[in-house]
Amino acid sequence: KKLSSAGFVLVELNENNHLKYKNSIKDTLSCLTTVGELPDSVFSNVVNQWVENKHIYNPILVVEKCSGKVIAIGTILVELKLIHNGGLVGHIEDIAVNDSHQGKGLGKVLLEYLKNLGVMKGCYKIILDCDEKNVEFYKKCGFSRCGVEMEYRP
Ligand code: ACO
Repeated sequence: KKLSSAGFVLVELNENNHLKYKNSIKDTLSCLTTVGELPDSVFSNVVNQWVENKHIYNPILVVEKCSGKVIAIGTILVELKLIHNGGLVGHIEDIAVNDSHQGKGLGKVLLEYLKNLGVMKGCYKIILDCDEKNVEFYKKCGFSRCGVEMEYRP
């Protein structure tokens, strides 16, 4: 409600709207990392696979109503496990707020939405990896430091 009165709306990315939002999604994601060329064929293929696996992928956009541009993006992947009696773990991934709109509370609203979605879907915990510089942001979103992130890049 607060988001709407500030001129923004939360939108699920899907097979019908993705091409309309492509440029502003690329622009916003470039605040996070390298996006690459991402031709329409690749972009549509990814979105279509996400849509076919809706129970796992939940890509959410924050759209500015006046411009129709995507200002923030993020997702929660819901992983079905054997442990915890066939439990579900939510993985928050690829959060980005466009440089032009950072520091206005939009990231926090997006995180609250994704957290609630994970809880609604039955996740017994919700986790994410982030840079040290974002720790305070995630603490303000209700997360606490836990474990160590490691990676292997072939
Ligand atoms: N350090 C300390 N505090 C911070 C930081 C920070 N880097 N960023 C935000 N905060 C605080 C704000 O001051 C605010 O505090 P308040 O509630 O007391 O007023 C609170 O956190 C919420 O801030 P928002 O305005 O909602 O943050 P914003 O919309 O700018 O989003 C984000 C934060 C997502 C980190 C944004 O800056 C961004 O997109 N950065 C570039 C991409 C990136 O690093 N994404 C995260 C990758 S990790 C992952 O995807 C799991």
